Amino acid sequence: MAKIIWITGGSSGLGSAFARHAAAQGATVAVSARRPELLAELAAMGQGHIHAFPLDVTDEAATEAVVSEIEDRLGPIDIAVLNAGTHQETPVTGFKAADVERLTALNLIGTAKGVEALLPRMTARRSGRLALVASLAGYRGLPRAAGYSASKAAVIAMAESLKPELDAFGVTIQVINPGFVRTPLTDKNDFPMPYLMEPEEAAQRMWRGLQGNRFEISFPRRFVWQMKLLQRLPDPLYFWSVKQITGVGKTNG
Ligand SMILES: NC(=O)c1ccc[n+]([C@@H]2O[C@H](COP(=O)([O-])OP(=O)(O)OC[C@H]3O[C@@H](n4cnc5c(N)ncnc54)[C@H](OP(=O)(O)O)[C@@H]3O)[C@@H](O)[C@H]2O)c1
Repeated sequence: MAKIIWITGGSSGLGSAFARHAAAQGATVAVSARRPELLAELAAMGQGHIHAFPLDVTDEAATEAVVSEIEDRLGPIDIAVLNAGTHQETPVTGFKAADVERLTALNLIGTAKGVEALLPRMTARRSGRLALVASLAGYRGLPRAAGYSASKAAVIAMAESLKPELDAFGVTIQVINPGFVRTPLTDKNDFPMPYLMEPEEAAQRMWRGLQGNRFEISFPRRFVWQMKLLQRLPDPLYFWSVKQITGVGKTNG
C-alpha cells in the first residue's frame, strides 16, 4: 500500500530531493516549508504525488493545524521526516546567545513541535514512523558551530529519549545524520567539505534507511566512521584532532 509521508523543510535541498524521490517510489508526499511558491513548483512536478502544505514549523498551533489538515485530506501520516533546519556559524568572536536561540528554536524546538503534533495520533494508532533529521555535527561540538552542534546533539538525544517508550507503542523513531550534502545550506560554507554528497544521493540513503528499522540513518559511510572515531576519542585527543583537521584554534580568530 502506498505510504503517506510528511516532510518538513521540503522547499529546498535535502527535503525537496527526498520529496521527489519518495514520490517517484509511489508514496503520497505532503511537503511543508515557509515558501509556498517553491512548494507549489514541487507539487506541480510530482504528478499528483506531492501536495503542498505551507508551514512555519516554529509555530506550534500552525503545526498542529497542518498535521490535522494532511490527515483529513490525504489520510493518516505513516512516515514523518522532520527535516526543517538551518545552520549559522557561531564563532567565539561575535558570539551571540540570540543566534543559538534562533538555531535551537528551529532545529530542536521546531522538530519537537512536529513530534508533539504527531505523537498522540501515532500512539493511538499504534503505528507510524518518525524520522528526525539531525547531523553528524551533533556527535560532538564542532568548532565555530556551537549553536548548530548543540541543537543537533539535542535532536539526537531527544530521539534516543523517546525511543524506549515509543517501542512499546509500536511507533518507530529514527534519527537521520547526514554528512555534507550540496544544498543552499552548505553553499554558504567557505571551507572544504569532505565527501560532499549530492542531495539526490542523500535522498536515496534516507529512503533506504526508512525501509529498515535501524535507529540511526547516517551517510556517507566513510565520513560517518571518521566522525564516530572522533566521537569516541578521549577529550585531549579529540580537541587536538579537530584543531588539526579544521585549522581552528591554531591562531586567535
Ligand atoms: N546539507 C547538509 O550538508 C546537511 C548536513 C547535515 C544535516 N543537515 C540538515 O538537513 C536539513 C535540511 O537541510 P538542507 O541542507 O536541505 O538545507 P536547506 O536547503 O537550507 O533547506 C532547509 C529547509 O528548511 C526549511 N525551513 C527553514 N526554516 C523553516 C521554518 N521555520 N519552518 C519550516 N521550514 C523551514 C526551508 O524552507 P523555507 O525557507 O521555505 O521555510 C528549507 O526547505 C536541516 O535540518 C539540516 O540541518 C544538512
